[in-house]
Amino acid sequence: MAMSLSLARLALPPVLQALPGRRQAHSALAFPANSFFGAPLAVAAAGAAALSPAAPLPRSLAVVAAGKGYKMKTHKASAKRFRVTGTGKIVRRCAGKQHLLSKKNAKRRKRLSKTVQVNKSDYSNVMGALPYLKVNKKAG
Ligand SMILES: *[C@@H]1O[C@H](CO)[C@@H](O)[C@H](O)[C@H]1NC(C)=O
Repeated sequence: MAMSLSLARLALPPVLQALPGRRQAHSALAFPANSFFGAPLAVAAAGAAALSPAAPLPRSLAVVAAGKGYKMKTHKASAKRFRVTGTGKIVRRCAGKQHLLSKKNAKRRKRLSKTVQVNKSDYSNVMGALPYLKVNKKAG
């Protein structure tokens, strides 16, 4: 839990910094009209409707970045901590296996040495930090 909170704080600023430059270039639209998110909006814009506040927010910033003329930077600290399995799950190490081990029994030490799947509710944080991670959100 503590890990996911600190990750959220670490991961979000670079992502948010990357966006304003793009906004200036297309001050009228939050997303360029030919982008993935702009495409459904372009129809609304043709009908002289501006970006409605009810428009769905991007679920994954990774999709925004992919192939749209600019590159997002990988958050290097996160890249060292998370990896994707063959089926596309994001996994991490367990906390508590560094020191003070003599008071932890063998079963607990063994459990802590395994990798575990990142909580699904933290996926957006990890994917915001690592935009090029090949994640399968439907896996497991
Ligand atoms: C995943 O995150 C949700 C929301 O923070 C929390 O309620 C749930 O207990 C978490 N699941 C695990 C397995 O940690």
